[in-house]
Amino acid sequence: MAERIWDTPEITGWRRVTAHAIRHDLDGPDRRRSLDGTWRFQLLDHPEQAAGADWTEIRVPGAWTVQPAGGADLPHYTNVTMPWPGAPLPPPGHNPTGVYERDVDVPAAWAGRRIVLHVGAAESVLLARVNGVDVGWSKDAHLAAEFDITAAVRPGEPNTVRLTVVKWSDASAIEDQDQWWHAGLTRSVFLYSTGTTYLGDLRTVAARDGSLRVDVRVLSTGRTLPVGWRVSVTLDGRPVPLDTAHEQQQIDVDRVSDWWAEPRFSTVVPAVVPWSDETPSLSTLDVVLHDFDGAELDRTRIRIGFRDVTIVGRDLLVNGVRVMIRGVNRHDFDPRTGRTVTAAQMRADLVLMKRYGFNAIRTSHYPNDPVLLDLADELGLYVVDEANIEAHDHAHEIADDVRYLPAFVDRVARMVSRDRNHPSVIIWSLGNESDYGANHDAAAGWLRRADPTRPLQYEGAIKDDWTGGLAGSDIVCPMYPSLAQIVEHARSGDQNRPLIMCEYSHAMGNSNGTLADHWAAIESTPGLQGGFIWEFWDHGILQRLADGRPAGPSAGEHWRDGAAEPGYRWAYGGDFGDSPNDGTFCADGLVFPDRTPKPAMAEHRELASPIRLSDAGDGMVRIVNRSAFRDLGRLQAAWELNGGLLPMTLPALGPGQATQIPVPSAPGTPDGEQWLTLRVSVGQEQPWAPAGTEIARPQVRLRPEKRPLTARAGATGGGTPAEVDDDGLLIHPTFAVAPRLSLWRAPTDNDRIGGQAARWLRLGLADAVRRVTGIQREADRTLVDAVYETTAGPVRHHLTARRIGPVILIGEEVVLPEGLDDVPRVGTVLQLKAGYDEMSWFGHGPRDTYPDRHAGGPVGDYTCRIDDAFTPYLRPQESGGRHGVRRLRLTGPDTPPVELIMDEPRQVSVTRFTAADLDRAAHHDELTPRAEAVIHLDAAHRGLGTASCGPDTLARYLVHAGTYRWEWTVSAPG
Ligand code: GAL
Repeated sequence: MAERIWDTPEITGWRRVTAHAIRHDLDGPDRRRSLDGTWRFQLLDHPEQAAGADWTEIRVPGAWTVQPAGGADLPHYTNVTMPWPGAPLPPPGHNPTGVYERDVDVPAAWAGRRIVLHVGAAESVLLARVNGVDVGWSKDAHLAAEFDITAAVRPGEPNTVRLTVVKWSDASAIEDQDQWWHAGLTRSVFLYSTGTTYLGDLRTVAARDGSLRVDVRVLSTGRTLPVGWRVSVTLDGRPVPLDTAHEQQQIDVDRVSDWWAEPRFSTVVPAVVPWSDETPSLSTLDVVLHDFDGAELDRTRIRIGFRDVTIVGRDLLVNGVRVMIRGVNRHDFDPRTGRTVTAAQMRADLVLMKRYGFNAIRTSHYPNDPVLLDLADELGLYVVDEANIEAHDHAHEIADDVRYLPAFVDRVARMVSRDRNHPSVIIWSLGNESDYGANHDAAAGWLRRADPTRPLQYEGAIKDDWTGGLAGSDIVCPMYPSLAQIVEHARSGDQNRPLIMCEYSHAMGNSNGTLADHWAAIESTPGLQGGFIWEFWDHGILQRLADGRPAGPSAGEHWRDGAAEPGYRWAYGGDFGDSPNDGTFCADGLVFPDRTPKPAMAEHRELASPIRLSDAGDGMVRIVNRSAFRDLGRLQAAWELNGGLLPMTLPALGPGQATQIPVPSAPGTPDGEQWLTLRVSVGQEQPWAPAGTEIARPQVRLRPEKRPLTARAGATGGGTPAEVDDDGLLIHPTFAVAPRLSLWRAPTDNDRIGGQAARWLRLGLADAVRRVTGIQREADRTLVDAVYETTAGPVRHHLTARRIGPVILIGEEVVLPEGLDDVPRVGTVLQLKAGYDEMSWFGHGPRDTYPDRHAGGPVGDYTCRIDDAFTPYLRPQESGGRHGVRRLRLTGPDTPPVELIMDEPRQVSVTRFTAADLDRAAHHDELTPRAEAVIHLDAAHRGLGTASCGPDTLARYLVHAGTYRWEWTVSAPG
């Protein structure tokens, strides 16, 4: 046995079964035996230590880093940085090595058959032994390793399987993805058995014209194939004929070589419904291997889809149609297991994506469990299937390092060999962030020859030159370019390939600002075709506060609506004492660790709506079918107007077609502005949603608000001075803290990492001291002048307050000096006394919306509990904002209702926390909600942008120096 394979990059595996596309995870119990469950386990200090006699227990599949058996070897989070300093080789001397062992009853009926051990995933090096015999080794933590154990195993008798997993290796240096480091067996383990002549591989090519080619590889454990074997192939029960060109070989049985044969079948299936994201129609392909008397020796079944993927000019076409890629990057993640996920969990992820308008996944940054691709085939999601190669920290050295050449080619080739029959896979990816070198071109060379039916992409190949890197990428797939950059490229005349961003709109914390701007540009600029949002998950690991340990796979659910329950928290980098670490940078997804969607998901849903409305004037609205392949017959809709729902029959519009329809009439026309909303839902049951599931709410404003603030607030007649205290602060029986100027927000992750937060701190915005410079009471109003001291100079604030009938009318004016350009907000902050627990508003809703993220929040009347208005981003930050609020009402069981009416639609928030409360806390368990409600009314609020990784918000969403004026009313006391 070769020594130290964990620091020998040239060795990618030993005695593995050749990668293939035959699925044994789906075999029946007569041919498959699961080895999932409890195993004996011990954790050694390093791989050269001998295992002892002390065993504990561990769950398989499962990383040891989240189980008690892993002891002190806990999850460790780094992005680029390798967990050990210096050169990637050799790996550190302290190298946790897990020995998994269990007894296995191999059925006596398997005697004389071929028996294979399948290990779904092992992180990072696997050494397998059966009954004390070495049966094979493998690397690549995200592809299965299979070993033929026929010679080592004793059917009908007890057998011992020992799987040794070494945590750190040469492979770690090319598995340096931005995620938690774990270790162990993270996918299922099983045995399967075949006859000695068996189906070794299956390759299908099915195109939208109905042409189908099926290549079957028949293998035998002997030196020759037995005489008389035959393969039959059926599609949905109908025979697929053997290709005449290959018939002769078939009759001669084994003419291709002495020991394997490759019969090829082909046909043209009439009238196929092509597979696409909108029409995921699948056919069942059965392949049966018979012996000379026709008896069945082996069989396999897969589902295939007929579809084409081509690139024409700078367009990626699916079935000849330029489709928009509304994608998201997805990691394997679970807050209790780290990255062991079940089929049900994967389905739940994909169902959620479909319901929120996603049509594509990039398997960042490694091949997923094959079940994920089955689900993508079934539900209709395009997949960029990515090889497990990320050399990030040592990218430059490794991309051209000949020692790593076998690993690059091996990882790409094994992925392709496994996944090539899935219609959902439309693009292969050579990996992520590994610079660009000869090793990539070698892998691309293998791939182009092995699968000419799909394009491949690799961001590293185009990183420095969007017109170059042609050998390494068929797609310009940049990460986090600015909007201006992609538009400029598309208009430059230099674009030579489709542009689909492999990562964009970094979803860290309160983020995804300007998504609507992105999509407006993408949809109107030829050459731009979408991209993949970074990313689906917030990778917060459920951690028990009592002992600081991961709650582990057997913990129940300890979360609700995105938040961890008391006694637990979502851990991020550093919370397990892991060092070095990248803190919260792993919490950058569109969903919380429990899969609760963040508000940004709603934004995406609306932008992906298959129907869009616009005002066509003269009592008509224009309606567009934005689907690529289907008419509107699959959807149903209802109008919402003046607070009521009206039935609606969608017009018969083909893909891309538009028409005008009359605005419906509804009773109860409001005095002020009027909005028409279309509630669009699934018409016929889909695999991802029952009929009636709402998928979009496009909206048009029919009439703007024309009434002045006083009219809307019911304030008529002259005013009287409002009461203020000696500091010029407004007195009101419901105020716990009187209104003041606010220029700061609790920094979002984008503000913090993008550098704004530090600048705002230096400017003194968080704690600007207020000084009153004058209080004047006139006949009908009170005037207060104050300054707020910042390091950029004083900010003058002028307030006018008068009581008019049922309300107090407050006018404010602020002058921001030149040095205060680009601040987070200009507005009013106040606190209501305890006792208010509900808020209602007219504006964007129902969830958080911001100036550069409100397309997903239709304007309307909303009500929610104040406690629920806040979104618990993993690191506390500005949250709970509602954009374009015209009217806000706060109520409680024993408190007088308070209503605030704004002069024009404003950014508002009502939470239990001040900005300082949020800023001080690193986790939610450190926050104590206040009994008071903290209300912000902003004259201006900075956009969210995505600057934690990528472009900041656009200039039009910044809050510049200058003069701001705003007015609002509050219900007058008694
Ligand atoms: C990208 C990388 C991702 C992730 C992201 C930031 O550069 O490909 O894995 O690190 O940035 O969250």
